[in-house]
Amino acid sequence: MFTLNDPKYREAREKAKELLSKMTLEEKVIQLTQYIGTDNSYNPEHKEKDGSTNAGRCGSLLAVCGAATVNGFQKIALEYTPHSVPVITGCDVIHGYRTTMPIPLALSCTFEPDLIRKCYGIIGKEAASDGVHWVYAPMVDVARDSRWGRVAEGYGEDTYLCSEMASAAVHGFQDDGGVMACMKHFVAYSAGEGGRDYNGCEMSMQTLFNTFIPPFQAGVDAGVGTFMNAFNEINGVPCAANRTLLTDILRGKMGFDGFVVSDYDAVMELINHGFAEDEKDAAMKGYNAGVDVLMLGNLYNNYLPELVREGRVSEEQIDESVLRVLAAKYRLGVFDSPFVPDDSDGEFFSDEHLKTARECARRSFVLLENDGTLPLIPEKYKGKKIGVVGPYADDRISVLGCWASIMTPSRTVSILSALKERYSDSDIIFSEGVDFSDGIENIEKACCDMAECDVIIAALGEHSSQSGEATSKTNLELPENQKLLLERLASLGKPIVLLVSAGRPLILDKIRKSVSAILYIWAPGTEAGHAVCDVVSGDFSPSGKTTISFPYTSASLPYYYNHKSTGRPASGEMTFESKYIDTPIGALYPFGYGMSYTTFEYSDAAISSDKIKAESGESINVTLKVKNTGGFEGYDVVQLYVRDVVGSITRPVKELKKFVKVHAAPGEEKEVSMTLSRDDLAFWNADMEYTAEKGRFKLWVAHDSDDNNIEFDFELV
Ligand code: BGC
Repeated sequence: MFTLNDPKYREAREKAKELLSKMTLEEKVIQLTQYIGTDNSYNPEHKEKDGSTNAGRCGSLLAVCGAATVNGFQKIALEYTPHSVPVITGCDVIHGYRTTMPIPLALSCTFEPDLIRKCYGIIGKEAASDGVHWVYAPMVDVARDSRWGRVAEGYGEDTYLCSEMASAAVHGFQDDGGVMACMKHFVAYSAGEGGRDYNGCEMSMQTLFNTFIPPFQAGVDAGVGTFMNAFNEINGVPCAANRTLLTDILRGKMGFDGFVVSDYDAVMELINHGFAEDEKDAAMKGYNAGVDVLMLGNLYNNYLPELVREGRVSEEQIDESVLRVLAAKYRLGVFDSPFVPDDSDGEFFSDEHLKTARECARRSFVLLENDGTLPLIPEKYKGKKIGVVGPYADDRISVLGCWASIMTPSRTVSILSALKERYSDSDIIFSEGVDFSDGIENIEKACCDMAECDVIIAALGEHSSQSGEATSKTNLELPENQKLLLERLASLGKPIVLLVSAGRPLILDKIRKSVSAILYIWAPGTEAGHAVCDVVSGDFSPSGKTTISFPYTSASLPYYYNHKSTGRPASGEMTFESKYIDTPIGALYPFGYGMSYTTFEYSDAAISSDKIKAESGESINVTLKVKNTGGFEGYDVVQLYVRDVVGSITRPVKELKKFVKVHAAPGEEKEVSMTLSRDDLAFWNADMEYTAEKGRFKLWVAHDSDDNNIEFDFELV
């Protein structure tokens, strides 16, 4: 939509050129400035210390939404901005606007890009109808360390899956939702040392290009309008001042035609990084690197014109940046319709939006353990007592996740209320036990109440404020009082169904032994309760597969399935090998893992050839039969992994290359076919060439990344 291949975008650029030709340098720089709408500084009544006003001095506004508010700001913009250029409003619409969808990490566990596109289309429509032009999403940082709180905002640890989701999100937001999207955070923000937010990293160009850049490239290919730089430094250069990244790579290699916005104050932070002397130096370095638009403040307004006059910033570059911003405004139609009709409420929480929120949520849940206790078929529990306990049971806020845009807890369906409705013929006994504080005083009462019950549903987890930005943690266990509650409940000897809501994988190794089932529900959003009931009652068989490894302990992080081998891979057969002496190597629940109420068996797996010709554009077909061998209808995710056995640089032990989600009724068998081409095997090699290297490969058709049962060898010749 925002690429030079798009005729409408080219037309928008032509209009932008005409307007640009009428602008002075100062007027141009205004378009490269963004204010935050909430501090009132854009209001003409608000005067700076010297009596001047900021009204009309920015091209975009952050954190402004709501038709009436946006229209108010727009009126000021049209009156005060030179040439009456309208503003665009950018907001953090991450996983829902009013109807809150599951957090992105949860969405990725569906392995359903089409559903995800639909979900983002809805989010975009709700936001657009309320005056938002531009959303700061999707976040596509490949997440390999769940100490980092922002793993909640992305699509997990696999590059290929993240890329599929990134593309779906951009198409959903832009093509279906009518808002401009923003790929963030460019780049390797998730790789901060120690899993600590904002922290830097050292990284080879190969890792950057093979692991972290592809999801961003998928966004470019989907026609994304904007990019946001990351806060961190890589190899000594902060991303906000990294010309190699923001210009040579992003524009040169990746072919991005839109504009780059800085992350919040990231250009100013160049001073803290020890990379810029002062504000003026920071403005120069950030801008020259390729940050077109400055989020927050007057750094560009104050210094860019002067820097141009001093010959330290080129006016041609300014012209190009302004052209990109104005072209986006024309392409979005903001010049033609600067005001939003103030009658949009009907869109929010519509039946279709709620239905999609529920569908996304129930498909995102990952069943980690089940001894057969789940599902709790309502007929079987007629007249029986179902205990419900824990801080998540009647929660309407935390289930909305770490970045619900316009939170509307009054619309949240709590787990407890939905259970009461679904199990109306059972006796639901609720006793909170512990809330989100660290108190333990109600644990004994809860245990007395639960002692009466036939089954206990414990809804525990990490509060949503514990995930998202600036929430890095080293202890990923459940809070102490929740662990105590669980321990006491376990001593009652009743079956316990544990629901865990969290923005990251928590450490479950010890507690899994004390429960009958674990359903990981992440942060499910507005329809939390309905979605949980669908799965708990057996109306919908769980089909989510985790897209991030569950570690045994946070001390073994970072851990990801697609790691390298080492010269002494852990086989368990030798003393001197790459392992821990106190913790199993690998994941407790690996990438791609998730149980169902039914079982799926693979048979007749075959590959059409054991050779692919490197030059011919040939591919091989991988086929198999998938049979539902259990008693429930359900979905399976067939996963295809590859290992490039020998490379000019060492290659991951496994990489997801394809997946297919299959639906089957009990007894039904489906044929699945996946195509693997030479291009699927390409990577940035030792010489930084993007190529597939000839030689041996292994291929697995698998239930998850730990499943090695069906294995083939083939060769690229
Ligand atoms: C975050 C971004 C966000 C921005 C604007 C920053 O602190 O890193 O993801 O879009 O704030 O709210």
